[in-house]
Amino acid sequence: MRLKDKVAVVTGAAQGIGQGTAMRFAREGAHVAVCDINAEGVKKVSQDIIALGRKSLWFEVDVSNTAQVNAMVQKTAEAFGRIDILVNNAGGGFNLPNKLEEITDEIWDRVVDTNLKGTFICSRAVAPYMKQQKSGRIINLSSKAGRYGGELTGIQYSSAKAGVMGLTRQLAKDLGPFGITANAIAPGLALSSPRVEKLWMERKTEAERQAVIQAIPLRRLSTVEEQASVILFLASDDASYVSGVTIDVNGGWLVS
Ligand SMILES: NC(=O)c1ccc[n+]([C@@H]2O[C@H](COP(=O)([O-])OP(=O)(O)OC[C@H]3O[C@@H](n4cnc5c(N)ncnc54)[C@H](O)[C@@H]3O)[C@@H](O)[C@H]2O)c1
Repeated sequence: MRLKDKVAVVTGAAQGIGQGTAMRFAREGAHVAVCDINAEGVKKVSQDIIALGRKSLWFEVDVSNTAQVNAMVQKTAEAFGRIDILVNNAGGGFNLPNKLEEITDEIWDRVVDTNLKGTFICSRAVAPYMKQQKSGRIINLSSKAGRYGGELTGIQYSSAKAGVMGLTRQLAKDLGPFGITANAIAPGLALSSPRVEKLWMERKTEAERQAVIQAIPLRRLSTVEEQASVILFLASDDASYVSGVTIDVNGGWLVS
């Protein structure tokens, strides 16, 4: 087991890549606190983790809300005694308009607050615990959109995910002296949940979907497990000397 008795917090874990990561961590021996704005969904994931014989807590938390995040982190540390790993997964484009002229201030704020500010707020909340332990792993979810622009999302999402890469580099620089690493992954496209599948079908014609797949050297979209595997690598001892990087997990699509 690669995470035996580690304590992890995974945000946005009710479905998709967050759920896949939380379950993968639990199978690798970790105790996992999970949060989401979808309380029913995240409660079920927490029950599934406990059914595997691990400890788990679930929280209804909006990652852009400092008070909620701080309370979650404090309760997790009190219950489990430490925090080894934070996965800042909560995010997405939220099926919102993508055309520049249609992006209202509210749309910009919702997407940037969840994807970028939420990553900052959660990282800030766990940092004191990790510093005290002199160890910790922070793994952020950026996106191919942050490097090259998105397929199903707009400028608000690309900007937030580019910001996540910069935030990751600065976290690595600031927290490295305390034995803490910070890294990110930049997924290509994974039909991770019915929500993302619906967007893929509604926002692309069949011809456009085929063109996307043909542009990916591996000629297919990603699975949730393929994203969770790289997050697991970054959380494991195998990545002890990796910090500040964003790993593309995109099947060779637009390699930088
Ligand atoms: N699926 C992809 O193709 C893809 C590609 C690149 C990056 N990503 C990123 O990976 C992460 C996971 O994506 P996914 O495809 O699994 O999405 P998803 O929509 O399936 O899951 C996201 C989860 O985050 C939760 N969430 C949303 N806002 C939240 C908030 N403010 N506070 C707490 N939880 C919140 C949602 O309720 C949901 O359960 C996101 O950051 C996304 O931007 C996904």
